Amino acid sequence: MLDLLIKNALIATPKGSKPVVGENVEIFKGTIGIEASKIAHIGSEAGEALEAKEVLDAGGRLVTPGLVDAHTHLVFGGFRQHEFSKKIEGVPYLDILKAGGGILSTVEATRAATEEELYEKAKGFLNEMKNYGTTTVEAKSGYGLDFETELKQLKVVKRLREDGFDLVSTFMGAHAVPKGVNSNDFIEEVISWLPKLKDYAEFVDVFCEDGAFNLEQSEKLLTAAKKEGFFIKIHADEINNLGGSSLAAKLGAASAEHLIEADKSDIEKMAKAGTVAMLLPATSFYLNKPYAKAKTMIESGQAVAIATDFNPGSSPNFNLQLAMNIACIKYRLTPKEVLTSATLNAACGINRGSSIGSIELGKNANVVIWDAYDLDFLFYAFGSNKVYKVIAANSF
Ligand code: NIG
Ligand code: FE
Repeated sequence: MLDLLIKNALIATPKGSKPVVGENVEIFKGTIGIEASKIAHIGSEAGEALEAKEVLDAGGRLVTPGLVDAHTHLVFGGFRQHEFSKKIEGVPYLDILKAGGGILSTVEATRAATEEELYEKAKGFLNEMKNYGTTTVEAKSGYGLDFETELKQLKVVKRLREDGFDLVSTFMGAHAVPKGVNSNDFIEEVISWLPKLKDYAEFVDVFCEDGAFNLEQSEKLLTAAKKEGFFIKIHADEINNLGGSSLAAKLGAASAEHLIEADKSDIEKMAKAGTVAMLLPATSFYLNKPYAKAKTMIESGQAVAIATDFNPGSSPNFNLQLAMNIACIKYRLTPKEVLTSATLNAACGINRGSSIGSIELGKNANVVIWDAYDLDFLFYAFGSNKVYKVIAANSF
């Protein structure tokens, strides 16, 4: 017997387990049955004949897959509100970093925090994210820049997974160059940590950017990571185009992230390689920067995903709904394209396309019931939380 039957729902979901170029969203009135944390039934009938331990009448509300936030820097000490005024005055992000602020100031705060403090803080964020409709989160380390603190961050993610949060763990030790250290030496050091982190991270990521790591260093690290059995992703072409997105395609990365400065030939290579473009519109908004050319990417056959980039510096926002609003307005994507980007395509960017990202038989039972009666309302209204109820697979 079903554990839960959601009836009287307006279901909007992409389909399949592979990244979609554009969208393939179907919208229909129907019922969703959940059993043992999986979607066990989906249909367009009224559902009266189905037996379930619990029945939830959605009252005609919109029901979508749980949102997938596939790019966050979830675990960090402190905040960076003291840099906010500088940003407003127009001091560039990389200048703040050069002066020992930015990522490096969060590194100090994260080194100073205990594992317990980081755990409690991240858990608070995850609970709030869930209230906003996010049921899967990718979490990067990268505020330690020494083995001990990177491991402390990764241990927090592991504990939160054991608590039942659907988390994907990424090691991003190469997020910035520690003060007074040579970047080539640091890359070698980060590579030497990889064998010890296999139980803690599934992906390895690197910040390929002026003032962080160059293309050669990024390639060296990601190649070593692949050899160790990690999946890879890359922060690429955010402020300057160093060739990071082409590198992602060459190495078969699951995703390349930011991509504001990626050009046509980069996009063509990524589209061919099947690398997902993980776009972060709330970061462009917050840093008052240009927006990635999402529409052109789709027109070139590139699958696009959308995430928050939640972090204490360039995007202190974990509300994926807001990033979705910005994606519609600034990227000029349609509600169906953005829904696909923040569910199925985001899931594919973290190798989860076959288990989450759509409401289909056998997938994990992550669904959001919205206080909305059509798909457009979800994207048209902004600033308030439009969630009515979140059902996350792990709660059954
Ligand atoms: O994705 N670009 C590099 N890393 C983060 C920013 C982290 C921070 O500023 O603390 C990002 O935006
Ligand atoms: Fe990031």
